[in-house]
Amino acid sequence: MMGLLNTTFTLGLCRSFTLLINCQRRITMQIVQLSSGYDMPVVGLGTWQAKSEEIENVITTALNTGYRHFDTAFNYNNEEAIGRSLKKWFDQGGNRKDLFITTKLPNFGNRPSDVEKFINLSLQRLGLDYVDLYLVHMPFSFIQDQNSFAPATNTDGTITLDLKSDPVAVWKEMEHQVKKGLTRSIGLSNFNESQIQNIINNSEIKPSNIQVELHAYMQQQSLKQFCQMHEIYITGYSPIGSPAAKQHFQTKYNYTLQTFPDLLGHSVVKKIAKNHNKTTAQILLRHAIQGGITVIPKSSNPDRIKSNIDIFDFTLTNDEMGQLNNLDQGEDGRIFDFLFFNGVANHPHYPFNVQMKKSVIST
Ligand SMILES: NC(=O)c1ccc[n+]([C@@H]2O[C@H](COP(=O)([O-])OP(=O)(O)OC[C@H]3O[C@@H](n4cnc5c(N)ncnc54)[C@H](OP(=O)(O)O)[C@@H]3O)[C@@H](O)[C@H]2O)c1
Ligand SMILES: *[C@@H]1O[C@H](CO)[C@@H](O)[C@H](O)[C@H]1NC(C)=O
Ligand SMILES: *[C@@H]1O[C@H](CO)[C@@H](O)[C@H](O)[C@H]1NC(C)=O
Ligand SMILES: *[C@@H]1O[C@H](CO)[C@@H](O)[C@H](O)[C@H]1NC(C)=O
Ligand SMILES: *[C@@H]1O[C@H](CO)[C@@H](O)[C@H](O)[C@H]1NC(C)=O
Ligand SMILES: *[C@@H]1O[C@H](CO)[C@@H](O)[C@H](O)[C@H]1NC(C)=O
Repeated sequence: MMGLLNTTFTLGLCRSFTLLINCQRRITMQIVQLSSGYDMPVVGLGTWQAKSEEIENVITTALNTGYRHFDTAFNYNNEEAIGRSLKKWFDQGGNRKDLFITTKLPNFGNRPSDVEKFINLSLQRLGLDYVDLYLVHMPFSFIQDQNSFAPATNTDGTITLDLKSDPVAVWKEMEHQVKKGLTRSIGLSNFNESQIQNIINNSEIKPSNIQVELHAYMQQQSLKQFCQMHEIYITGYSPIGSPAAKQHFQTKYNYTLQTFPDLLGHSVVKKIAKNHNKTTAQILLRHAIQGGITVIPKSSNPDRIKSNIDIFDFTLTNDEMGQLNNLDQGEDGRIFDFLFFNGVANHPHYPFNVQMKKSVIST
């Protein structure tokens, strides 16, 4: 029998439930309760770069393997395909209340007058009346291109920054969406600690969730402490190190990170995987959730979709947790510095101190 295993989710409740799938396979999933009062499954499916032609099948596979939490964004351009897949599931008797759907306000919609417009568009595309979590995708804001859903660019190739944007004013509109019932919970993504504090200081409804890059090379120790103090759960994105991002940055933006990590191939992770007869991806994901983080690994491959959620039947020992904790590179481990948005570091709300990054990562 699979039971509730040791984790250090110290905020709110951490419970587990068992799903019976196709009347035969039992899947245990842990959930946490957000400060909004709603439950969030600790593993969700990431969907960035999931191709629209494959995403319908991906979502169906994920639902059949026990996923109930899905992460998307207006910017991923896959909400419609996800919506089609969800509709099929509802038509076969699936219950909306069992799902946890997250989407995000795009960086070119970071102004109060655009919040409701974009949440409505996302809901329309997803075919839903409400989302479970709406996040401000990024703290900096861009002017929208007149003819498309993309940031406008200047003649020199830089992105057109919106220097007047006010994150607190945007947050007030986010709170409105909760009151209108269009989203159950609200949160922030890619904000740094003082930016989050500024929102908390000026909010009626506190953020329930912060979504940031988090993996073995960038463990966000300081933000973890900060969020515990404020009863906010962190969702870790790129939890296995986003191996396909390198090629994507290169192809789409002609942008190359000085060094690109290979977490899945790290010798320490491999050794621990061998101890447990698990894949290195499962070890990385287990490390995060055992440290109190919720994770949203992306996969479009049926076997990997299935194995990435199969992490509730083993526990890493304190020694193994220690070895994995030691892989932390802090700021140097960051993959998503967003510098592929040409000129973004000049925005007053650019969240990262890029000078701090020295970039020597070895495996
Ligand atoms: N808020 C933000 O700004 C932000 C930024 C980045 C990401 N995110 C969210 O976080 C999600 C996850 O992050 P991510 O997509 O950057 O990276 P990730 O989940 O760390 O890695 C996904 C990549 O790893 C591969 N993969 C998945 N499972 C694997 C396994 N078991 N073994 C080997 N390879 C595996 C996938 O390829 P296959 O599909 O071929 O399996 C895909 O290329 C995103 O999809 C998105 O929803 C949010
Ligand atoms: C968003 O949708 C709601 C409910 O359908 C509607 O009342 C509201 O006017 C819409 N707002 C905008 C800005 O489109
Ligand atoms: C938030 O409020 C506290 C207490 O009033 C204050 O000390 C802190 O400087 C404020 N932080 C920000 C980022 O506004
Ligand atoms: C890509 O970037 C490199 C170095 O930054 C530059 O030399 C090259 O001209 C760029 N290529 C294109 C197609 O813009
Ligand atoms: C190891 O895991 C694989 C895949 O889950 C399974 O087929 C195999 O039987 C396991 N081996 C042992 C020794 O438990
Ligand atoms: C957090 O973001 C603000 C911009 O809003 C920036 O001034 C500050 O330096 C950032 N803090 C860190 C630690 O990078």
